[in-house]
Amino acid sequence: MPSMAQTQKPNGNLSFNHTNNNNNNNKPNFFSRRQKILEQRKSLPIASVERRLIEEVRKHDILIIVGETGSGKTTQIPQFLFNAGFCRDGKCIGVTQPRRVAAVTVAKRVADECGVELGQKVGYSIRFEDVTSSSTRIKYMTDGLLLREALLDPYLSRYSVIIVDEAHERTVHTDVLLGLLKRVQNVRSKYIKDHTSVGHKRASNGAILEKENADPSISILKQCQGRKLTPLKVIIMSASLDARVFSEYFGGARAVHIQGRQFPVDVFYTVDPQTDYLDSAIVTIFQIHSEEAPGDILVFLTGQEEIESVEKQIQENLKQLPEDRRKISTVSIFSSLPSEQQMRVFAPAPAGFRKVILATNIAETSVTIPGIKYVIDPGVVKARSYDPVKGMESLIIVPTSKAQAIQRSGRAGREGPGKCFRLYRESEFEKLEDSTKPEIKRCNLSNVILQLKALGIDDIFGFDFIEKPSRAAIKKSVEELILLGAFTDEYKLSDPVGHQMARLPLDPIYSKALILASQFNCLEEMLIAVAMLSVESIFYEPREKLDEARTAKKCFASPEGDHLTLINVYRASNELLEKNSEVGKEKRIKILRKWCKENFINSRSLRHARDIHSQIWRHVEQMGLCISSCGDDTLQFRRCLAAAFFLNAALKQPEGTYRALASGEVVQIHPTSVLFRTKADCIIFNEFVKTTNKYIRNITIIDGFWLTELAPHYYAKQ
Ligand code: CDP
Ligand code: MG
Repeated sequence: MPSMAQTQKPNGNLSFNHTNNNNNNNKPNFFSRRQKILEQRKSLPIASVERRLIEEVRKHDILIIVGETGSGKTTQIPQFLFNAGFCRDGKCIGVTQPRRVAAVTVAKRVADECGVELGQKVGYSIRFEDVTSSSTRIKYMTDGLLLREALLDPYLSRYSVIIVDEAHERTVHTDVLLGLLKRVQNVRSKYIKDHTSVGHKRASNGAILEKENADPSISILKQCQGRKLTPLKVIIMSASLDARVFSEYFGGARAVHIQGRQFPVDVFYTVDPQTDYLDSAIVTIFQIHSEEAPGDILVFLTGQEEIESVEKQIQENLKQLPEDRRKISTVSIFSSLPSEQQMRVFAPAPAGFRKVILATNIAETSVTIPGIKYVIDPGVVKARSYDPVKGMESLIIVPTSKAQAIQRSGRAGREGPGKCFRLYRESEFEKLEDSTKPEIKRCNLSNVILQLKALGIDDIFGFDFIEKPSRAAIKKSVEELILLGAFTDEYKLSDPVGHQMARLPLDPIYSKALILASQFNCLEEMLIAVAMLSVESIFYEPREKLDEARTAKKCFASPEGDHLTLINVYRASNELLEKNSEVGKEKRIKILRKWCKENFINSRSLRHARDIHSQIWRHVEQMGLCISSCGDDTLQFRRCLAAAFFLNAALKQPEGTYRALASGEVVQIHPTSVLFRTKADCIIFNEFVKTTNKYIRNITIIDGFWLTELAPHYYAKQ
């Protein structure tokens, strides 16, 4: 058991406020559901400043709103704006979120608050899922999705207001979006200024009609599909107190602070360093359960795999407790959780039970869950990391920043005094970075560069980024796009490949794989492979049943590698569902879940992959790509993998490790790969994982000669 020593709170004085405790969960329900929602809304700190906020938005085209997590920014401000008439003329209020789950859960909540059906007045749109209609006026979406929308509607003409929420997260998409919004806002203002006087007739709906003799702005109107261009309001919302960086970027933009309310949170650190934070987290959960007063526990973990393994371990441990002490109910929240399960996290635990919420970083500021009194913070987060010299991107588990640790502990003090258990020593806290480095400084940029180019932004080095990525990173990503054939040697988007790649909502390398697959007659297989590679681990290997799990996996394993193995799993699930095509949807899901359990397959991941598959199938169909199968000719499919992923080829070294050809990195095959013990000379891989070792995952055997044949522009020169 990690022993805890109470220490001083690092974040100084927190104000007490006992006025509005809105935890009504366990109180008798005196009001109707709607009245209760209304009461909750009225009690939010933001409710008292509605009028002032609207005035600020009217006065300023760019406004920065800073407010404590849970003060009501995300759910309330769009409704205030709607009520104040910002959606006149059929315009929308767009709210971007860095995370899919936040976009979905908040949209559901706001639809509920407005008493409307989701997808009507209030809707959401995330990659592979669009729940909006022509009547949608408040639209929640991911920041990445709005960037994609800009490809079709470059002046974002359907929006009167864009709210960039959670801007402090500084995801790469948020950063690029800020640059884009700055441009769009300028163009729209200029256009309106130039066209509100003589020479233009107005249509009855107010839209400015085109002048006879075309000028450049006419093409602007065309791209807006005839929609009336109004000034664009931009609101940047952040939970971090430091609004300076945003204000400076937007030329000294106005920032307003919303007074939050926060109860004191006692912070505890472990006395000894912890070697296994998952074990420590489980021990701490049970320690709190047996020693502390009622109240829900929020545990921060790094991803789906960790969450699922901790969930299982909690269930195992509960079995060993006496009946009356088993009253823990677990819920989880992470980005790929199917949307119908996401709202479970907001529901109160059964009476007398303690809810344990296992969450990724998403619960840090994006999603506010009521009822939390205890926070367990292992002090780590999964983050992207990029080496521009080697061109290798990986997801690694790194220590949080101080700002993140403070945000996390704050989650315990929203409704009353709380406690936060940091699973590391106090001396470690002092060593943490103050704040997290923006993602744009630590990721592969080929995706955003491709999109910027498709938006007509030619000079990537000259783009007005809020924080410039390194020249080396831009250069490496541009080189990669040239090698993939998306750009010409003159750095122009190639036709048709570059345009097709920009249209697909996938990483450029996967888009290229699909385009090539249509030429190699194996697009059916590649669609499955790309969908399966887009989700976190299809196979589940519980520590206590490792042998059974590995035996089950052998039934699907292909000697040629993981890609074909994943395809086998997908096709087996297809057969199962086809066999049961007569039964109802619910029953089919149950059958699939049972089959997954028996085969140690993660049913959530598989269902997510099936969704992605049908979405990208539709995309490639619309693009007119030829969808056919290579049947038993798996050689053709592997050749296609080599042609697409040639930048991820590796050669066997005499001592048994592999050397990645593009980066020179010496890597090992991950033990979960079906090729773990392979003797193959040449392979391609899809994922680079850096833990204590450098591993590669999702691997297929290829013939080294294919590289010079299929990627001569790269390998013939080497
Ligand atoms: O954006 P900010 O962190 O300022 O707050 P918010 O997300 O607008 O949340 C305001 C309130 O709505 C909180 O009390 C949340 O617990 C509640 N909420 C909820 O009950 N269910 C949701 N799906 C989202 C928010
Ligand atoms: Mg929010």
